[in-house]
Amino acid sequence: MITMQELREHYRFTDEDASLLQSLQPLAGQNQERFEQEFYDYLYGIPEMVALLNSSNRQRLREMHGRWFMSLFSGSYDNHYLNHLTRIGHAHVRVGLNVHYVNAAMNQIRHFLLNLIDNNYSDREQRRILREAVEKILDMNLDIMSYSYRAEELKKVFVSR
Ligand code: HEM
Repeated sequence: MITMQELREHYRFTDEDASLLQSLQPLAGQNQERFEQEFYDYLYGIPEMVALLNSSNRQRLREMHGRWFMSLFSGSYDNHYLNHLTRIGHAHVRVGLNVHYVNAAMNQIRHFLLNLIDNNYSDREQRRILREAVEKILDMNLDIMSYSYRAEELKKVFVSR
């Protein structure tokens, strides 16, 4: 399993990126509810996801996804954060969600955040560095979440031997 230090190196994620993400915390907080709403509108627009969501408690799910959104801006990205991401990946494997939908949902989240930055920062250079930090943390999240799927596939290969 990869360490957080390796993950940060591979994505060229710096302490400056961590500070930039943390600086977005107030703006993210003001937009958390809108994030939850738009994420859910997105999920409920896709029939395969609706089938999966119907068996779960809507409010709880909404809160879990909202908390995850805020965790992007905590400013602390250590091995504890890595474990948190690994757990999230496994939760989706467990409910039988195809990894395709995780990738697609991340695209929706990416657009939400990039638009948020574009609409709230007038300085071009500031927008660029904030966007880069956001892109990195989202790709790191996706990487670790898909790792859980790969690990599960590998387990199946070994079991079937
Ligand atoms: C659970 C994040 C996409 C359905 C969770 C949890 C987080 C999370 C943080 C809580 C995990 C835990 O602590 O146990 C994300 C992120 C996504 C994503 C970052 C995309 C980038 C989706 C999609 C669906 C979905 C597309 C579609 C149906 C669920 C369900 C659970 C869950 C059903 C509950 C799992 C359980 O009850 O154990 N998600 N999620 N998620 N998510 Fe997502």
